[in-house]
Amino acid sequence: MQSLTLAAPAKINLTLDILGRRPDGYHELRMAMQSVSLCDTVTVETGVGGGIAVETPGRADLPVGPENLAWKAAAAFAQAVGDDCGGVRITVNKRIPVCAGLAGGSADAAAVLRALHALRAPETEREALEHIGERVGSDVPFCVRGGAALAEGRGERLQTWQGLPPCGIVLCKPAFGLSTPELFRRTDGISFAVRPDTEGLRRALANGDLRAAAGKLCNVFEAALSPEEGAEVARLRRALMSLGALGTAMSGSGPTVFGLFEHDVAAVAAAEILKKSCPETFFATPL
Ligand code: C5P
Repeated sequence: MQSLTLAAPAKINLTLDILGRRPDGYHELRMAMQSVSLCDTVTVETGVGGGIAVETPGRADLPVGPENLAWKAAAAFAQAVGDDCGGVRITVNKRIPVCAGLAGGSADAAAVLRALHALRAPETEREALEHIGERVGSDVPFCVRGGAALAEGRGERLQTWQGLPPCGIVLCKPAFGLSTPELFRRTDGISFAVRPDTEGLRRALANGDLRAAAGKLCNVFEAALSPEEGAEVARLRRALMSLGALGTAMSGSGPTVFGLFEHDVAAVAAAEILKKSCPETFFATPL
């Protein structure tokens, strides 16, 4: 039996633009992705006999079968590499909120791929691992790579770039969840009034200019929220700004809202205050 435990970091979208609907039903995207320190912990054990087993201690609400992206990742690895690993047991300790726009499930899947790669096929190119991730979900290749990148296509075409300079990040997950396919459906037919300046963000990041980068945060999915959802996202964005954030946005297909702070102390203090009206509030830093 072999075992490896890895951190599975969440991601935020500094920008998210939807360029159009593709013939295959997916949407053409352009997104600035950033890994953050909020993470799940994933333990992968091989040689345990049987097939693939997933455990999510303390979280009976989460699926443990083929609907779980971590399960899918182990199956995709076995198929691509031709190695069933003598049975795989995966234990996911969740901290990242689910249905939140933070790629929690994709992060777990990517951790499974990275662990199986290290344990069973270290000679396989890292890029091949990202391709295996593509079959599991659109955000998985980025989660395999981590750090900061521009993601295009379905989300699988990655260009590593300079990420956020050191800063504090406060993440607030409203009480409701949003379904990614549903949000994508809602965007069909919307012509977005405000689009991200992705090139401007790239320049700000390359210059290590946090204030300028914070001014470029933008997510077109915010235009597809219902009035109630939009009101809660707007409330949290306003609250973050009033507590000293340099900029705010919703991440991914939401509903998590984040704010960037110049100093960790201010961010930690803001998180403490926001927890009162939004219990799933977290402090994080960029990775
Ligand atoms: O790739 P993934 O399984 O994570 O995507 C979930 C759903 O989100 C897809 O079934 C599709 O409805 C939508 N999606 C999309 N365009 C993308 C990524 C996801 O329409 N680029």
